[in-house]
Amino acid sequence: MSAPPTILVFDSGLGGLTVLREIVGARPDANYVYVADDAFFPYGHHSEEQIVARVVPLIGELIVHHAPDLVVIACNTASTLVMSHLRSAYQVPFVGTVPAIKPACASSKTKRVSVLGTKGTVAREYTKRLIHDFAQGCEVTLVGSAELASLAESALSGNAVSDADIAAELAPCFVGNGDARTDTVVLACTHYPLLLDRLTRLAPWPVDWIDPAPAIARRASDLLGPPGSRSDAAAAAAEMIFTSRRPHTLSKALMPFFGGRVPA
Ligand code: DGL
Repeated sequence: MSAPPTILVFDSGLGGLTVLREIVGARPDANYVYVADDAFFPYGHHSEEQIVARVVPLIGELIVHHAPDLVVIACNTASTLVMSHLRSAYQVPFVGTVPAIKPACASSKTKRVSVLGTKGTVAREYTKRLIHDFAQGCEVTLVGSAELASLAESALSGNAVSDADIAAELAPCFVGNGDARTDTVVLACTHYPLLLDRLTRLAPWPVDWIDPAPAIARRASDLLGPPGSRSDAAAAAAEMIFTSRRPHTLSKALMPFFGGRVPA
C-alpha cells in the first residue's frame, strides 16, 4: 500500500478551515497540515509587496519542513498575488483560491452579482481580469470588507459578535431593486463561509452565496490521483500550526473541519 499523501493547507488565519473541510471530505485518506499565518493576520491590511515578501519564503520553509505532496493556498488575498511566484519557485503542485466570479455570473438570473472579499482582493488586477473575462453581461459590484475576516475569527473563537457589525459589512453587497437587484454574492474570502448562517439571516433579501471550496477540493483530489485504500480517516494525521507559535486551544471547535480528527 502506498503512503498516504500529505496536504498542506495555508491561510492567514482560520478561514482556510472552510476549504480544508471540503478537501478532507473529498480525501479522507490524506494526512493534513493546516498552517494559519496568524503572526501576519489580517492579510487584507497589508500591501501587495508585503504579502509576496511574506508568503513566498514562508511557503518554502513549510515545504522543507513538512514535505507535502500538495499545497493549497486557502486564501484569496494571497492567491490573487502569489501563485505564479510559488509555481516558479517550488516543484510541489499548488492549488489556489480565487473569487468564483465565473460560476456566479453564469448562474445569476438578475445579472447583478456582488463580490465580497478583503479590500486587498477586490483591488487586485487579477480580480478585475476575472470580471473582464467572465462577467458574461453581469453588473459586478466589488465590496471590500475591512473587518469581516476578523469578525469571523472572533466568532469561531467563541466571542460574541454583534449582528449590527456583520450587517454593516454586508450591506454594500445588496444593490438595485425588483428584477434588477443582486441575486448572487461571491464569498471571495475563505473566512466568510464561517459566518454563512448569519450572513443568510442578516441579508436584506435572499441571494445565492457562492463558495468555491467544493471546486477547490475536487481540483486538489484530481491532482493527487486516485485515493489510497485507507478507510479509517480518524487515524490519519492532522496538525494545526500557528505561525505566532501560540498553542491552539480550540481542538473541539476545530474537529469538524478536520473530519472528526483531533488536530495535534
Ligand atoms: N482568508 C483570507 C482570504 O481568503 C483573508 C483574511 C485576511 O485578511 O487575512 O482572503
